[in-house]
Amino acid sequence: MPLIQKDKTYIWHPFTQAKTAADTIVITHGKAASLFDATGKEYLDLISSWWVNLHGHSHPKIVEALTRQAEKLEHVMFAGFTHEPAIRFAEQLVGLLPASLNRVFYSDNGSTAVEAAVKMALQYWHNQGNPKKRLVAFEGAYHGDTFGAMSLGKSSGFYGPFTDHLFAVDFVSYPETWMDDSEVEAKESTSLHQLEQLIASHGNDIAALVIEPLVQGSAGMRMCRPQFLEVLLERCQSNNILVIYDEVMTGFGRTGTLFACEQQQHTPDFICLSKGITGGFLPLAVTVTSSKVYESFLGDTFSTAFTHGHSYTANPLGCAAAIASLSLFVEEQTFAKMKVIELIHKERVTQLQATGLVTQGRMCGTIAAMDVKCPQTQYGSGMSQQLKEAFLAQGLNLRPLGNVIYLMPPYCIKPSQLHYAYDIIQKVLTAFAPQDLAR
Ligand SMILES: Cc1ncc(COP(=O)(O)O)c(C=O)c1O
Repeated sequence: MPLIQKDKTYIWHPFTQAKTAADTIVITHGKAASLFDATGKEYLDLISSWWVNLHGHSHPKIVEALTRQAEKLEHVMFAGFTHEPAIRFAEQLVGLLPASLNRVFYSDNGSTAVEAAVKMALQYWHNQGNPKKRLVAFEGAYHGDTFGAMSLGKSSGFYGPFTDHLFAVDFVSYPETWMDDSEVEAKESTSLHQLEQLIASHGNDIAALVIEPLVQGSAGMRMCRPQFLEVLLERCQSNNILVIYDEVMTGFGRTGTLFACEQQQHTPDFICLSKGITGGFLPLAVTVTSSKVYESFLGDTFSTAFTHGHSYTANPLGCAAAIASLSLFVEEQTFAKMKVIELIHKERVTQLQATGLVTQGRMCGTIAAMDVKCPQTQYGSGMSQQLKEAFLAQGLNLRPLGNVIYLMPPYCIKPSQLHYAYDIIQKVLTAFAPQDLAR
């Protein structure tokens, strides 16, 4: 039986309507910013394979670090035992984060990093004999697919069958903005006003606020300004509300700085990191918090301890990949490459917008996004599937989020490759417009 037939027989793919989806593509290898299928066809990975890849596929430095680590220790349980890669990575990470984020809790994916942060925040108040119950999140947010993360992401629209099982969360609007947006300040005021109202009515019972800082990913790369986050944190912290930054997607350079939280003075109480953490090689995640939070879990009995863990917590291979990936930022002068990506995004999104094919062009670091003018805006719409297929046929791995086309390439992408991608996007959109887009 051909491989693809076996895939159809045995495998259930994520976020896929198997009945209507096009055939999945068997990828045999990857190199730098490209993936190759069994026929040798090349696909430029413009979305870093669900936002995980940083320095390119199968980067030899990370391969080497993994090989060395696998020969020494593949895994050990992380309660009662520890190991050098976990210790070294935690130390390096703490050195790079704002000073108060200094205690690293390992898990293995973005959803668990968020679950851990929310549980820590709730237990922080519980351990102090002041249990607070309410959580605040943002409309459109996506924090993962476990039940806690789904509750925080209830308004994303992904979780219809489960709504009766999700816990209550208060939602505030996300002041999304784009190039030449004259209403940004009004939107920020509305969001802050909604928060003020929640504080006025339930202030003493709000345990934490959770936000995807600077960019809401799955909602359609909705971007907000750092100055909004500054005020938001100030309001929360002066009202004793813990702040959780879900940087699962924004972490490791995507927004132009290593972490989005660097772009402001106030520091959140938690940061959740995953995706790019291993350079895209292995599942790994961390929830990093402060001494203040950590110390509230110390006590003479087990009852105040954090009873949460996963079998593959702090996997040594993942930690070795994470160390190698961090060192590549320096060795390969990644920040200079990121700047070039930023400039190309700016030039080409502006040009595309001038053609009238797209609107609401926006950029944040190495992320660029724009809305295709079409009435079907929902995730998985027929239009977004057709666009995805058209891009794939032209050798681009792009997955529109509803009517939003976005690019978040690995940092090793060559300027010529990125320009080529924009040329193809314009070609594909021109071929579709306007009568197809109106369908
Ligand atoms: C901001 C954010 N948080 C959490 C998650 C969940 O991460 P994972 O898919 O690794 O569970 C995602 C995934 O897209 C994300 O974008």
